[in-house]
Amino acid sequence: MDSRLERFTVPERVTHWLVAICYVYAGLSGLALWSRAMWWLAPVMGGGENLRGWHPIAGVIFALLLAMQFRRWAAQMKLDADDRKWLAMSGRYAMHDEHGVPESGRFNAGQKMLFWLQSTSAIVLFATGAVLWFPEVMPRGLRLISILVHPLAAVASMGGIIVHIYMTTVVVQGALHAMTRGYVTEGWAKSHHAKWFRQVTRQ
Ligand code: HEM
Repeated sequence: MDSRLERFTVPERVTHWLVAICYVYAGLSGLALWSRAMWWLAPVMGGGENLRGWHPIAGVIFALLLAMQFRRWAAQMKLDADDRKWLAMSGRYAMHDEHGVPESGRFNAGQKMLFWLQSTSAIVLFATGAVLWFPEVMPRGLRLISILVHPLAAVASMGGIIVHIYMTTVVVQGALHAMTRGYVTEGWAKSHHAKWFRQVTRQ
């Protein structure tokens, strides 16, 4: 039988799923507050007036948890020369033709790009969200910029998360198991993250 390798530790998994829960709440409540067409989400998220109070609080908790995830993973998410080549050849990866595509470390270049997109959009959401939370003490110009930029950053972030959920639940079989149970088989590690497999098994 294929041996197992630990892919995500308990603190990594707990932080990731708490980030995900806060993100979904902040994202759906934000959509309800943003557009009348999405107001039907309000009762599901705790009701109209509650929503105005809870949306920024969920956003702050999300930002704090994401900062913990950032501290843990940032050093591993730096792009190297192989990652840049991987990105240039990502069309092949998407077509399941990995001939000539460099092997990946613990995270492939696509995952690293998601990490940086989420980190950057979270900073923008946090800063513009703070302006919108306390409009009475903010200059008018800053309020106008935030009204425009806050939803734009949310849309960019949500686009990335939709791709992320699709990749980790539908495309890459076994990835969800790694984030729920914490381990993968050696065969999975070898085929998806060959460089990481060699590092952890010293082969
Ligand atoms: C809401 C549903 C979500 C699901 C089902 C999900 C699923 C997963 C899975 C299965 C992995 C492990 C992939 C692997 O084995 O390499 C993972 C990793 C990760 N997740 Fe999520 N995730 C979700 C939400 C989020 C959110 C909201 C964020 C950040 C805002 C996030 C950020 C990350 C990052 C940075 C990684 C490591 C790199 C990567 O695998 O892309 N995830 N996620």
